[in-house]
Amino acid sequence: MKTNLLLALTLSFALCATALAAGPAVDGAALYKAKCASCHGADGSKTILSKPVKGLSAADTAKKMEGYKAKTYGGTKKATMENLSSNLSEADIKALAAFIAKL
Ligand code: HEC
Repeated sequence: MKTNLLLALTLSFALCATALAAGPAVDGAALYKAKCASCHGADGSKTILSKPVKGLSAADTAKKMEGYKAKTYGGTKKATMENLSSNLSEADIKALAAFIAKL
């Protein structure tokens, strides 16, 4: 019995610690991998399905993403990005922009 209680305590502590470590911040790397890498490539340089994002500064990326979201930016294939960006929050865009700047 005592062991079970200890185990439960240890487990809940570990879960709390994990939640705290992850925090409310968005993981830009994970988000990029899940939602962007298929078209832009793992390193952002793929051009077959999209424009390259590698080399964009965080400010540039954020501005372009906001533009797609507001439908005020884009080229001939902008519909794809307009759809994609409509589901992204400010925090998502910030995290993605910071990650892309480091590619
Ligand atoms: C289905 C393919 C696809 C996916 C997935 C995708 N993109 Fe794009 N992306 C494109 C295409 C196509 C363009 C060029 C659109 C245009 O003509 O304006 C583009 C353009 C961009 C641009 C502008 C580049 C420039 O210099 O004008 C940025 C920034 C960008 N994407 C970021 C992202 C981010 C961040 C994600 C993930 C949330 C993402 N994209 C997911 C296809 C995609």
